[in-house]
Amino acid sequence: MRSGKTFLLLLTIVLLTAACSSPAKQSGEREMEVFIEELISKMTLEEKVGQMTLFAGHMDQTGAMVRADFEEDIQLGQVGAIFNVYGEKNIRKLQEMAVNNTRLRIPLLFGLDVIHGYRTIFPVPLAEAASWDPEMIEKSARVAAQEASAEGLNWTFAPMTDISRDPRWGRIVEGAGEDPFLASLIARARVRGFQGEDLRDATTIAACVKHFAAYGAPQAGREYHSVDMSERMLREVYLPPYKAAVDEGALTVMTAFNDLNGIPATASRFLLTDILRNEWGFKGFVVTDYTSILELIPHGVASGELDASEISVKAGVDMDMQAGYFQSALAHLVKLGAVDEMTIDEAVRRILRVKYQLGLFEDPFRYCSPEREQNDVMTPENLEAAREMARKSMVLLKNENDLLPLSKSIKTIAVIGPLADSQKDMLGSWAATGDWTKAVTLLEGLKAKYPETTIIYSMGCTIDGDSKALFAEAVSAAKRSDVVILALGEAAWMSGEAASRTDLGLPGVQQELAEEIHKTGKPAAVVLLNGRPLTISWLNDNIPAILEAWFPGTMGGHAVADVLAGDYNPSGKLPVTFPRNAGQIPIFYSARNTGRPFNPDSKYTSHYLDSPNDPLYVFGYGLSYTSFEYGEIKLSQDKFTGSENIEITINVSNMGKFDGEEVVQLYLHDPLASVARPVRELKAFRKLLIPSGQSREVTFNLSADDLAFYRLDMTFGPEKGEYRVFVGGNSLADKAVSFWFE
Ligand code: NOJ
Repeated sequence: MRSGKTFLLLLTIVLLTAACSSPAKQSGEREMEVFIEELISKMTLEEKVGQMTLFAGHMDQTGAMVRADFEEDIQLGQVGAIFNVYGEKNIRKLQEMAVNNTRLRIPLLFGLDVIHGYRTIFPVPLAEAASWDPEMIEKSARVAAQEASAEGLNWTFAPMTDISRDPRWGRIVEGAGEDPFLASLIARARVRGFQGEDLRDATTIAACVKHFAAYGAPQAGREYHSVDMSERMLREVYLPPYKAAVDEGALTVMTAFNDLNGIPATASRFLLTDILRNEWGFKGFVVTDYTSILELIPHGVASGELDASEISVKAGVDMDMQAGYFQSALAHLVKLGAVDEMTIDEAVRRILRVKYQLGLFEDPFRYCSPEREQNDVMTPENLEAAREMARKSMVLLKNENDLLPLSKSIKTIAVIGPLADSQKDMLGSWAATGDWTKAVTLLEGLKAKYPETTIIYSMGCTIDGDSKALFAEAVSAAKRSDVVILALGEAAWMSGEAASRTDLGLPGVQQELAEEIHKTGKPAAVVLLNGRPLTISWLNDNIPAILEAWFPGTMGGHAVADVLAGDYNPSGKLPVTFPRNAGQIPIFYSARNTGRPFNPDSKYTSHYLDSPNDPLYVFGYGLSYTSFEYGEIKLSQDKFTGSENIEITINVSNMGKFDGEEVVQLYLHDPLASVARPVRELKAFRKLLIPSGQSREVTFNLSADDLAFYRLDMTFGPEKGEYRVFVGGNSLADKAVSFWFE
């Protein structure tokens, strides 16, 4: 009976795959399915459940494995994957246990949070998003995959594709910002970077899209808090980046900690089965976040271990991270008849497919190479790529009277501030195995860049302490200098997981330090190192130049110096709005107009009594050492039916003395629709280098799909009528024309 069912299922899979892929791919897939079905037919129920179990190890600072209490489980075939263990020797040892000591010799997956680099640390993901350069972001993920796989890993828990419009939430640092269009392109780039073109290539690793879904919208910005949002908002804004990553071929998906409209993501059939598998056709496996199955109990939807395991496996979870619940409950549930063994078989099938696709059955030690471990990490090329990515990530927020770039012949620079020489804070959160002692600080970067200049350093204060004891020394350093570089911001630990904040000002007495330096009258440029938008109105009102450098990674200090000295002309643009104050949050550019848009002459319009509505810096904003002028928008036609594309062309001129890159951005607005539409939505952009004094013509193509949205009846498509198009260098772009969709 059982083998009959298996045969039917196999036949369906074979027919389905045959219908939609090339002959070579078809035969490869057929072989894989046959192999897996055969393997499953030999597995005991306990061995199947073992594949659905993921446990964490623990390493010390020397790279030694100090806790591996799962070794016995591995040898019993009761574990399918391990994470937080790295290093060729450690991984080889555990893999040997799995393939030499177990009955069926099924290799393990080895995962880690390789988020923005492995040993060579790149800028934090939000910073990378500010580059608006998907190609460079792909390269960054590629380098991370090469380094991680050189030390035995074959799976990363990245990319995080959670949209966030709430900078109180510390994990905003780990995403690509507030906009679904930009974040979707970046999600795809990261998946391509990690997984490459050939999964069996030993330098590629499996990606894991997380956290499914809507983890970036917790109530009041508080970590792990509930998410309550309309299905329209979910589908239009929050889901697209996950879908983009799935469409790009991401092999795995991680559930989110939060509940969505009352249903924890780990228990949500709507998310994990209806949307992910049935609507999007996801073929890989779903892993929970850390102990999420266990957390169904405090969420209040499961009474205990059995209940939590049953709910989550039926919702569509395939692998349990660290709760150990599947391991102890699933076989029992099958024996009780509460869970069908076919559900277990399907989960195991999905997991084994990923192992097969990575080539682990062919060679379980494919990712274990002592030579690669020796030679492939922190290479000069990788360090150079990290430096390039960091330069491209920086956003020039202000540059009054062209204070920057700083001349190379400057005599004395005062480098002041708690982030100026803080190696530990250069890497930011989730720095994998990055070694902060190898990070280049801003002070070191400037010393290397300006060998002839006298550089006076003063810390001024700590990041979050309240002592002003060092202020006098800092002021004296400023007075003795020609220019001050003030390095301010957050400590690395202040963003990332479990790092929500309610006050987004500079921590501690940093602003007071800036006020003291300002009083000296010396020209000062602030370099911000931080993982989220900060509320920095005072700096913006008083300090002539501000460079947002985020947490720039191992080569950060050199990259900041490259920008300050003008060896690289800044080209980053904000992927997220910077509010004036935390009371404005959530604040994002693609809001709706309301029925009473703000009118300063009328009290009963949408506004605050104590704050302007607009943010400090808008989405898409960022300056350059040069300036760009936009011509008028030209349309290929002002009416279109969707059977053809509409072409939108604009001329952009570099009017300044420096060559520079501009991110030309195109936004759309549908002024009259069955559902109120956002005032603007990013639909296309192009980053291009324009030499000083030259112009470039940029043409965008839009199709009817670019006009589509969830209409009144929740069908997805465009509506007829006028569309307004805006093109410019940020989301306030003022060149505008209309066209009609008929
Ligand atoms: C919890 C985090 O939410 C998730 O992003 C991460 O991948 C896991 N821990 C594993 O470290």
